[in-house]
Amino acid sequence: MDEASESNQQRRTFLGILLGGVGVILAGVFTWPIFRFLAPRDLGGAGAQVRVGKSEIKVGGAHFFSFQGRPAVLLQPSAGDYVALSAVCTHLGCIVKWVDGKGEFLCPCHGGRFSAEGKVLGGPPPKALETYTVTLDANDLVVG
Ligand code: FES
Repeated sequence: MDEASESNQQRRTFLGILLGGVGVILAGVFTWPIFRFLAPRDLGGAGAQVRVGKSEIKVGGAHFFSFQGRPAVLLQPSAGDYVALSAVCTHLGCIVKWVDGKGEFLCPCHGGRFSAEGKVLGGPPPKALETYTVTLDANDLVVG
């Protein structure tokens, strides 16, 4: 093999490796978002608990927080009575808002309404908001 032929062969090998590397990088760039979309989300552990100070929940008020990676809400409908609910509407998954003056939840997407206990009061939601257990531990409320 003469010197020019050997140089051409080395150039082809180099270009092959370079194009292969670029192809691998482009494949990663395009498939990574799909992988992230399909991969299960970290929900903070199935047995994870959340502690919220009792003083943060006023009587008749609502305290929104994140529970297992999803929006949730703690209420104190009457003194010493605590309720923990999912804040995800059971219709199409919008996040419900607490309406202080009415003492109920309103879903901003299609007007679904829920009581302070999570029961459906009106609108399209097919079922009540999911409830979570709440226990009292000294000055904290423990959800989960
Ligand atoms: S998503 Fe809540 S009423 Fe439709």
